[in-house]
Amino acid sequence: MAPRKIIIDTDPGQDDAVAILLALASPEDLTLLGITAVAGNVPLPLTAKNARIVCELAGRPDTRVFAGCDSPLERELITAEHVHGKTGLDGPPMDDPTMLLQEQHGVDFIIETLRTEESGTVTLCPIGPMTNIATAFQRAPDVVERVQEIVLMGGAYFEVGNITPSAEFNIYVDPEAAKIVFGSGVRITMMPLDVTHKALTTKPRVDAFRAMGTKVGDMVAAWTDFFERFDMEKYGSEGAPLHDPCTIAYLIKPELFQGRHINVEIETESELTLGMTVADWWRVTDRPANATFMKDIDAEGFYALLADRLARL
Ligand code: BDR
Ligand code: CA
Repeated sequence: MAPRKIIIDTDPGQDDAVAILLALASPEDLTLLGITAVAGNVPLPLTAKNARIVCELAGRPDTRVFAGCDSPLERELITAEHVHGKTGLDGPPMDDPTMLLQEQHGVDFIIETLRTEESGTVTLCPIGPMTNIATAFQRAPDVVERVQEIVLMGGAYFEVGNITPSAEFNIYVDPEAAKIVFGSGVRITMMPLDVTHKALTTKPRVDAFRAMGTKVGDMVAAWTDFFERFDMEKYGSEGAPLHDPCTIAYLIKPELFQGRHINVEIETESELTLGMTVADWWRVTDRPANATFMKDIDAEGFYALLADRLARL
């Protein structure tokens, strides 16, 4: 089968960085058409810079990186330096990238790509707030039906929230954007906290990255060591969830994941539950299914895939 064409829409973030590395390490499965940066974990200038740092780390400065939206559709930006550090990619110091940012706006790149590639052959992978994707859909409604699938990291149901008691960060930062995406009619596969909280960076798993003896292996181990502290303290878990690479792993090995095709709605009004993904897991409403909500992961298989692919870089 020909590799699947994808655009990664991202706010790196250490776990975003691992997702980008996994995609770049998997050319037989995925062709990365471009990376669009969005404001999220840290402001846009940093996410656009971090995306290029990651491409250079992978030895792929030819990857096209675009800056997209610098703030959510209708709200002030909320960031997550408390998890990812001041730069968004805290850990060992990194040199500034030398590769240039593309001049085109990230949203225009998404629109142009969907219009020029054969319809139904481009998959979008949002692993940050979905401002860029929603803006593209609003500005160019003709591209919506041309999307093959959206495979996103966001939301939670049984795990409820990480940024508020009821909302997951990516959805909470731009709930209006998420609502547009979930209402778009595009085929959606989502990796909520219910899955990613089962993909923990335990010591043996991080040691396996370090044992690669490569710059990428060392960096991934150091990044996970850094952002691990926050979740281990908060949840008392044996490691941190490696959220965003679940999307890329799904595109490579969908059999690692299990979920249900159900209705998922986004709360945009309630003060207490803003940004909640209301998932009809038990199918108690007759609202139509609009997303495959993943709930389980073969975590050993996921980390084996990561170790195998990242060792190539
Ligand atoms: C999501 O929020 C960000 O901090 C991570 O990069 C991930 O995309 C998890 O809630
Ligand atoms: Ca992210």
